[in-house]
This record gives sequence, structure tokens and C-alpha cells, in this order.
Amino acid sequence: MTQRYAVILAAGQGTRMKSKLYKVLHPVMGKPMVQHVIDQLTPAKLDSIITVVGFGAESVSEQIGNQSAYVVQKEQLGTAHAVQQAEDILKDKQGTTLVVCGDTPLITHDTYQALIEFHERNEAKATVLTTNVSEPTGYGRIVRDADGHVERIVEHKDASNEERLLTEINTGTYCFDNAALWKAIQDVSNDNAQGEYYLPDVVEILKDKGEKIGAYMTPDPDETLGVNDRAALAEAEKVMKKRLNHMHMKNGVAIIDPDHTYIEPDVVIEADAVIQPGTIIRGKSVIHADAQIGPHTEIIDCEIDEGAVVTHSVAKNSRIGKRVQIGPYAHIRPEADIANDAKIGNFVEVKKATIGEKSKVSHLSYIGDAHVGSQVNIGCGTITVNYDGKNKFLTTIEDDAFIGCNSNLIAPVTIGKGSYVAAGSTINKHVPEDSLAIAREKQTNKEGYAAKIKNRQKD
Ligand code: UD1
Ligand code: CA
Repeated sequence: MTQRYAVILAAGQGTRMKSKLYKVLHPVMGKPMVQHVIDQLTPAKLDSIITVVGFGAESVSEQIGNQSAYVVQKEQLGTAHAVQQAEDILKDKQGTTLVVCGDTPLITHDTYQALIEFHERNEAKATVLTTNVSEPTGYGRIVRDADGHVERIVEHKDASNEERLLTEINTGTYCFDNAALWKAIQDVSNDNAQGEYYLPDVVEILKDKGEKIGAYMTPDPDETLGVNDRAALAEAEKVMKKRLNHMHMKNGVAIIDPDHTYIEPDVVIEADAVIQPGTIIRGKSVIHADAQIGPHTEIIDCEIDEGAVVTHSVAKNSRIGKRVQIGPYAHIRPEADIANDAKIGNFVEVKKATIGEKSKVSHLSYIGDAHVGSQVNIGCGTITVNYDGKNKFLTTIEDDAFIGCNSNLIAPVTIGKGSYVAAGSTINKHVPEDSLAIAREKQTNKEGYAAKIKNRQKD
């Protein structure tokens, strides 16, 4: 099989983004643009991927890691100059070199694959991925001859008024015969409106030498959006969101309002889960069958098991068991592990805590750094007092315990199995199994005293 390589152009500063964040690291549905490109290239099993980095080189390599090799383009002199930085690595190789931009995050693996196969079948020296768009402003235009063959690509800034009417654009994605690329690229000049070395000029150079040039037109212009500014970034977000929601619905997930549901690319959702409006599911979350998420809920890196219901809440880096009910207005912070059939009600915060099966924390509580057993009832307003300003301490509440309302449990402390804590207690000592702990001021009634107070208030 032909050897295949890819060069990702990611050295441009991205001036039009007006951002301190390097352009290709701007996220689309939570994932940096350049990572989308890598993820879509990976299934093509290329022999090597080389990313051209410039400004922010370290942050790009930090993101992509060893999924690519890197070359540095010290000065951004144009896309042809960027590709040339990979010459040392690729010049002696035979095969196909795919060149892609780091700012076209919507191109799918299927399209890359189709382009490569079309190029190789056609035995062309260069093949451009093109598409027809209704708003071509800013893109390079494909100029074809009378027979419909690609002649050259003209950049918007260099194009005549007539050429600007062309709606077939260069997507910035190409396949080259590797040897032909390195030869032709030497002849690219920077004699143009931007004073840059344009990669698209390689097409005309090869054509003039009588080489075969191809164009593969993808039918889906939505895929080819090049993100140069914030408006295009928002557009990309919209397209990606729609695509991902569509995929989940095809897989049997109920998404009630796909326009207002944001599911990031690495999220897994099983059939018959229901996603209500205003919900954002991020990271590597897994939502199992029959779970109901939302409305207005944010889930980040959580596993939510079958039949669980999470409404109007935020949950991060936690595990939520089968049929658990969360919310409304709960905050599940990292490292919470909530077992089957438990309930976390309104205005409850749980952090780094295990909550056992069928346990209930129904209202207005903070449970942090705690082990809570099964069938425990935690009354309204209970607080695990876990922090002394320097260190965190553990609260253990054993199975079947009952914590009365408005209790402070000062950690480290253990509430024994089956015990009761009286409402309003501040507990700082171990409570043995099956006991009742009362730790509050005794009540005093002063009969008739109300009249005295009222008298005093007359003056
Ligand atoms: C480029 C194409 C244009 C095409 C469009 C598709 C050129 C000259 N023009 O225009 O025909 O329609 O993409 O989206 O190629 N980069 C470098 N080093 C540089 C310059 C750019 O690595 O010196 C990288 C950028 O980071 C970016 C990509 O190359 O990922 C494209 O550069 P950009 O400036 O965005 O080109 P466009 O003006 O969009
Ligand atoms: Ca661009």
C-alpha cells in the first residue's frame, strides 16, 4: 500500500481571533480545533503526522502529545513556507502527503479518507478538497479552465472582481504526491497581495509542468468552514453541536431540544437516555440507559447509571448510581460516589464523599470528605465540618444512622451504625452504635417573660 503522511498547519498566530489563546487551541464543543483534526485523521492510519507549530508551540504539543511529530516555523511567512518545515522529515519518502489546516475542525474522517482514495485512484500529483459555498468571501477560489479542469487557486485578496464571483472554494486541504510537492514548492514566490508564500500556488506550478491535478468536491460545505475569527468559531460550534446531537438521536437518545443541548464529542450516551433542554454534558461523561439529565444541568466527566435523574444541577468528576435522584439545584463536586437508589435533594453540596445505597440527603446540606453508609437519613441543614483552615478531616456515618436537622458533624468523627443524632447537635466525639447523641444547649422557658420584653420596647 502507498505510504501516507499528513502535515497539519498550525503555526499561524490567528490575529483575527483577537485572543491571547493560540488559534488552533480555541475549543469547538470543548475540544481544541487542532485536536479535532488529529482525532479525525487518526483512523486513516497514516504513517506519520507532522504538526507545524510556531507561536505557542509548547501549548500545542502539550495538547496533542505524542499523537504527532512537530516542526517549528519560526516566522509565519505563509502556508507554503509552513509546509516546507516538514521537508527534512519527508523529502526522501515516496507516497501521498495530505496537508490540512489546524483551523478546519469540522472535516470528518470520511471526507479525508475519500479525498486520499480519490487522489490515489486518479494518480494525480495534487488534489484539492473543494466545496461550493454561498458566502465565499475570504477563501481562495478554484479557477477551472473551459474543460472544467483545475487551473489554479486565487486568494480572495488577489482575485479579480470576476474571480470573486466564483463560489467553489479551496478548503485548505490537499493531497500531494510527496516527491512532486517538494520539487514544486521551491518555485513558490511571495509576489502577491499578502507578501506570503501561498501553498495553493503549488497547484498552478504543477499544472504548468503538465502534471495531473485533481479536485475532490465534498457535498457538505458545513464541514469545510475555516475558523479565522470568533464569528466563525461560533458557527463551527453550532455545526458541531448539531452533528453530535444528531448522532446521539440516531443512536436512540431522546434529545428534547437539540438547539439548546450541548454534548461534547467524547461523551457516550446509551439509548433511551433522555436529555432535557439547557443541558451541557462535557468531557468523558458516560450516561447509561433511561437516565434523565436536565433541564438546565451541567455534567462534567461523570458516569451516570441507568435510570438516574439529575435536574437543574451541576455534577463534576463523580459517579452516580442507578435510579439515584439529584436536584433540583444540587452541586456534586469531584470524587463523589453516590450508590444506587440514593437521593441528593435541593441545595445540597457533595464533595469527595461516598453515599451508600438508599441514603438520603434531601435538603440544604454540605457533605464533604465523608463516608456515608446505606439507608442513612441526613436531615435538612446538616454540615460535615471537614476543614480547620489547613487540613481536611473525614466524617464517617455508618449504615442506618439518622442525623437530625441542622447538625454539625465536626470531623474527624464517626457516627455509629443505627445511631441517632438529635437535631441541632454539634457532634465532635465518636457516637457508638445504636445510641442517641444530643449535643446542644438545654432549653429554658421563662414563663410570662414576654410581657417584660414588650414593656421594655414601649419606651
Ligand atoms: C487558507 C488558504 C485559502 C483557503 C483557506 C481555507 C492559503 C494562502 N490560503 O487561507 O486558499 O481557502 O485557507 O480555510 O493557504 N499557517 C501556518 N504558517 C503560516 C501561515 C498559516 O502554519 O505562515 C497555518 C495557520 O495556522 C492555519 C492555516 O495555516 O491553520 C491556514 O492559514 P490561514 O492564515 O488561516 O489561511 P487562510 O487565510 O484562511
Ligand atoms: Ca484559515
